[in-house]
Amino acid sequence: MRVVVIGTGYVGLTTATVLAYIGNSVTCLDTNAEKINRLKQGILPIHEPHLDEVFDQVRHKMCFTTDYAQADIPNTEVIIIAVGTPSLPDGDADLTYLTQAAESLAQNLGEAFTLIVNKSTVPIGTGKWLEDRIHDFTDALDDRPGKRDFNVISSPEFLSQGSALRDSFYPNRIIIGTQHAPSIERFSKLFEPIHKQNFVSPKCLPRPEDLQEVPIFVCDVISAETIKYAANAFLATKISFINEMGYLAQKVGADVDALAKGMGLDPRIGSRFLNAGIGWGGSCFGKDTAALVATARKNGLEMRIVQAARDVNYSLRQWIVNALQEKIGDLNGRRVTLLGFSFKPNTDDLRDAPSIDISKELVKRGAIVTAHDPVALKNARLYYPDLGVVYEDDLSKALENPEAVLLLTEWQDYLHIDWQNVPQCVIIDGRNHLDHARLRDLGFETVRFGSKQS
Ligand SMILES: NC(=O)c1ccc[n+]([C@@H]2O[C@H](COP(=O)([O-])OP(=O)(O)OC[C@H]3O[C@@H](n4cnc5c(N)ncnc54)[C@H](O)[C@@H]3O)[C@@H](O)[C@H]2O)c1
Repeated sequence: MRVVVIGTGYVGLTTATVLAYIGNSVTCLDTNAEKINRLKQGILPIHEPHLDEVFDQVRHKMCFTTDYAQADIPNTEVIIIAVGTPSLPDGDADLTYLTQAAESLAQNLGEAFTLIVNKSTVPIGTGKWLEDRIHDFTDALDDRPGKRDFNVISSPEFLSQGSALRDSFYPNRIIIGTQHAPSIERFSKLFEPIHKQNFVSPKCLPRPEDLQEVPIFVCDVISAETIKYAANAFLATKISFINEMGYLAQKVGADVDALAKGMGLDPRIGSRFLNAGIGWGGSCFGKDTAALVATARKNGLEMRIVQAARDVNYSLRQWIVNALQEKIGDLNGRRVTLLGFSFKPNTDDLRDAPSIDISKELVKRGAIVTAHDPVALKNARLYYPDLGVVYEDDLSKALENPEAVLLLTEWQDYLHIDWQNVPQCVIIDGRNHLDHARLRDLGFETVRFGSKQS
């Protein structure tokens, strides 16, 4: 099929690559000229495991453009929208990019039926709003109002950064939000290889052995949009729940990791998303929980659980700085090294990363901060040049002479640090990632989250 993907960020580029891999002709359309130029040269603008390998394999089947008129939209069967929907100050989602995409799309739609799939996470009710906007735009432009044949459906995206490509080849469900039969048929045809799992897996990402078929769930647009928010809010709450238990564990002398293990063995609970530490960040959980709270408020409701999950989450960014101050006293002039800057491992994304708030607080208290990250420092230099933090790509240099080390992101690399060559210092492990028994044997003073033992 001919597909146009609007927005080539983490979601759009991954989706476009997968759709090209399973045999479609895909055009990537993005208003960011630098991104498109890089993609044309085969350079990826984002870091995602294995994306470079698969992209290299399929990029000859893909086109890249910044120009809607060049994307051949009239001859395109499916348009996928994956533009950003960041937070506004009141928590609501900012639909500026979506509105711009709708307008540009409307100017270029042809007369044959086009399926428009929205993958951006949008406030509940936006599917209908988007369809109306496109109609308004086409009718305003057109000498033949009402002649454009299209339908907007919602297919929320559930991929996780750090495993975006894996999640897109082997998702745990595909949601189709529409009751329009021709749209269901076209969408199902496009995603049939993913649903049936009958494509040849890329060598770098073999199919999980137990995966036979990916379930497809069809529901109305509004329910599909709400599923996305509910799923993210639930996962965010699960993490905040274990973190709140961590605060209690610290007081009563329990160990939060033992708690998580004991709880997670119950299949009704499950062990995933029970990793205690300094909490979630990234482009989704913070933004989507804020949007859910804002939507509920507009409807006269308080989302008390989701709000509490947010409160617990953001308090942890203070917890780690306070824990450091408790250990070493006044932070003014003290040398602190941060291990990890991205919001989670295997991504270069810094959106709502705990490292940013933690750096600001450390700098405010006078600390001299050095940060290391295996991939995210390029973005740190680009987006946070004035944070007052020294960005150090060389891990051994970052660990040359710290008074304290704060582990903020659980990169595998940090499991292989040769601590024997690191001077004695205080180590605060914000992700309960390191081998504390060994560190203590080597003479380090360490702190884990959710444990009295330090
Ligand atoms: N990142 C994730 O893990 C994830 C997971 C699920 C859902 N989502 C949702 O998917 C959407 C996209 O997220 P992302 O992380 O890929 O965002 P992103 O910021 O990485 O990418 C968005 C892209 O859209 C482009 N863009 C903006 N306006 C445009 C326009 N008018 N026409 C064409 N391109 C335009 C931007 O230049 C950018 O490259 C968001 O709504 C997000 O909430 C993200």
